[in-house]
Amino acid sequence: MSGTSDESLDARFTGEIPEIYERLLVPMIFHAAALRLAGAVGARTPHDVLETAAGTGVLTRELVPSCPGASITATDLNQPMLDTAARTIDDERVRWQQADALDLPFDDDSFDVVVCQFGAMFFPDRVQGYREARRVLKPGGAFLFNVWDKVENNEVPQIITAALIEAAPENPLSFLSRTPYGYHDPALIRADLERAGLADVTVTPVDGISRSTVSEAVIAYCQGTPLRGEIEAHPTFNVATATAIAEAALLRHFGPGPIEARIRSFEVVASPASA
Ligand SMILES: C[S@@+](CC[C@H](N)C(=O)[O-])C[C@H]1O[C@@H](n2cnc3c(N)ncnc32)[C@H](O)[C@@H]1O
Repeated sequence: MSGTSDESLDARFTGEIPEIYERLLVPMIFHAAALRLAGAVGARTPHDVLETAAGTGVLTRELVPSCPGASITATDLNQPMLDTAARTIDDERVRWQQADALDLPFDDDSFDVVVCQFGAMFFPDRVQGYREARRVLKPGGAFLFNVWDKVENNEVPQIITAALIEAAPENPLSFLSRTPYGYHDPALIRADLERAGLADVTVTPVDGISRSTVSEAVIAYCQGTPLRGEIEAHPTFNVATATAIAEAALLRHFGPGPIEARIRSFEVVASPASA
């Protein structure tokens, strides 16, 4: 398949995206995962937590009660995501800082836990991102993160992706399958972590259900993610026409009214390998 996609846009969460992401996508697919991951972080009773790719703060909000007394440094590449996050939390234990997970502005051995919810898929060099997590972890610390499974195991983005590709196969809109749902091989994840000096890797599949309406789901994915930028750069579609194509496909599949859809992810834990 040829395409017109510009992969440098894949990590661009700016413009109208942060507000739509926070309002529609967070309750639909991110909140349940955040509760789970925050519980796993809290079980380690950390003093200093670094969150990378914190986005609009769904996990940060859950880390506050799960990690009583801990200092939480929440970072993201895109300042507009953090601006949206900061409007939702007012807690002196949380510090917001713009930072690229591949080049962290923190000293070695600074944190008990590094945690990253659904961010690693966006890293242009995942081994470098993992190396940075390892560098800033204290000895005995832990790196926890999650990634989505392949798009075929995530019902709504699969239907949207198939509909948009069918409508313009010569210029496939493949952001969803390429990036957020494009890093899901447990063997590759394990190998990338080990190349970065991390060990004791566990990869656990997590199945769930997302709940929304068709119109919420279609606006969430087509307008509240970087798929929006890929659509805006497309030679045939604009945001309205692509949204309408995806909406028609979801309505054919689910019918009108509330929808429940399959979602699947992997939760990963790793620790610095001993020297
Ligand atoms: C799918 S969102 C996840 C946000 C949040 N953790 C959540 O669960 O809702 C992916 C996030 O990764 C961030 N991101 C992308 N590349 C990054 C990088 N190199 N370093 C730090 N953050 C990055 C984006 O800005 C975006 O906020």
